[in-house]
Amino acid sequence: MKIGIGNDHTAIELKNEITEYVKEMGHEVVNFGVDEGAKANYAEYGEKVAVAVAAGEVDCGILICGTGVGISLAANKVRGIRAAVCSEPVTARLVKQHNDANIIAFGARIVGPEMAKEIVKAYLTAEFEGGRHAERVACIMDIEKRNRES
Ligand code: RB5
Repeated sequence: MKIGIGNDHTAIELKNEITEYVKEMGHEVVNFGVDEGAKANYAEYGEKVAVAVAAGEVDCGILICGTGVGISLAANKVRGIRAAVCSEPVTARLVKQHNDANIIAFGARIVGPEMAKEIVKAYLTAEFEGGRHAERVACIMDIEKRNRES
């Protein structure tokens, strides 16, 4: 798969480690995050990855900021995006199987590198189960349609 990754200044080191890990799993990684310099606004990098996912330029996304929350909130403002914050692998697996999350996020201040790798592995190896879950995901996406700006 082709995977977009994005991060703010809190997560440069973890982003690099996760990038290597994802490549070792056999995936291609496109870096949309910050690599050096001053403090960076997580919203910018959440949006960049979300736009790439929504446009089909990448298959899914990984976002990392201090908590994973700010960057996922930003990503979820892009139409078609279901970004889920995960702090452990069970949630990471279920957000793919049940919610068809197209982005996962986690916090560099919350999880260590080994836990982050387990989260990424659980998400990338899981499959959306469809069926009743597809109906529920469609209900989520209907909210977007009902609240579209004209
Ligand atoms: C940056 O200090 C921090 O607020 C950011 O990385 C993130 O945790 C926000 O949700």
